[in-house]
Amino acid sequence: MPVDVTAEVIANRPLSHDYNVLALRAPEIAAATSPGQFVMVKAGLGHDPLLRRPFSVFELLRDERGIPTGISLLNKRIGISTARIYAAQTDERVACLGPLGRPFSVIDPPTEGWMVAGGVGLAPFALLAERLRARNVACTLFYGARRADELFYLDFFRGLGVELVLTTEDGSHGETGRIVAPLERKLASSSAGRSVMLYACGPEGMLAATAKAAARYGRPCQVSVERIMGCGLGGCYSCVVPMRNGTGGVHHVRSCIAGPVLAGDQIVWD
Ligand SMILES: Cc1cc2nc3c(=O)[nH]c(=O)nc-3n(C[C@H](O)[C@H](O)[C@H](O)COP(=O)(O)OP(=O)(O)OC[C@H]3O[C@@H](n4cnc5c(N)ncnc54)[C@H](O)[C@@H]3O)c2cc1C
Ligand code: FES
Repeated sequence: MPVDVTAEVIANRPLSHDYNVLALRAPEIAAATSPGQFVMVKAGLGHDPLLRRPFSVFELLRDERGIPTGISLLNKRIGISTARIYAAQTDERVACLGPLGRPFSVIDPPTEGWMVAGGVGLAPFALLAERLRARNVACTLFYGARRADELFYLDFFRGLGVELVLTTEDGSHGETGRIVAPLERKLASSSAGRSVMLYACGPEGMLAATAKAAARYGRPCQVSVERIMGCGLGGCYSCVVPMRNGTGGVHHVRSCIAGPVLAGDQIVWD
């Protein structure tokens, strides 16, 4: 069950001009969160903006005994709420409702986990990578960003034993271009006997390209969609995604409750 808490800001670490990691004291949410779930956050007091905004749970924070104490958010500043979260001060309080939505399904060995992240789409993968590595699943993170200084937490993933494949659009780190190119090559060169689960989060074009590539090579693919969400609870229908049904028709699901993690081969991308 989601809980609605007024969470204290424990720390706010800027990563770049646009990105920061906000740590919140929220033990109830931390204790209940699975990888891929999100929280609805309202930064600041007052009515502007009126609506909360959705954020993936990035990290689970624990005390020295391993007991969950809070969560962190990987935030990219693009508008009014994300600017407030970027500027939040320690001891400030933010309204935080969660955990919400359907999480990723976590696989077991010998299936490998290939995570595909674009930009702030990295957010759900810190927790997913931890859960997969705890089960000894071999993991690769395909991670694309605009430039080198927007590739974050590389040492964190390396420390977990995750293989990294990196791209930047300007060529300042890793391969030049989009992350789907090395992913396609890896899909093409992997033997059919190798069992792989793809997980993707990022801009919709990247999600569509990843899901289509996975389908071409017969690999299952779970995508975390990022629609605009007004409520996060199934009440406003701002977040619908068209999905194929078993009989060749199309129906719409509310991605806040049916997702945000959905089967990539069932989404109608065009
Ligand atoms: C399930 C889910 C998880 C998310 N996780 C994260 C996360 O971990 N970190 C993070 O930084 N962001 C995440 N987002 C995106 C985040 O919710 C939006 O960036 C945020 O709502 C923007 O709020 P704002 O008030 O700053 O921008 P606004 O002032 O509301 O909007 C600024 C501009 O951004 C556009 N915009 C707003 N929301 C979105 C969106 N979801 N997709 C594309 N364009 C949008 C608006 O149309 C407008 O043009 C997630 C979204 C979803 C649905
Ligand atoms: S965000 Fe309101 S129904 Fe999904």
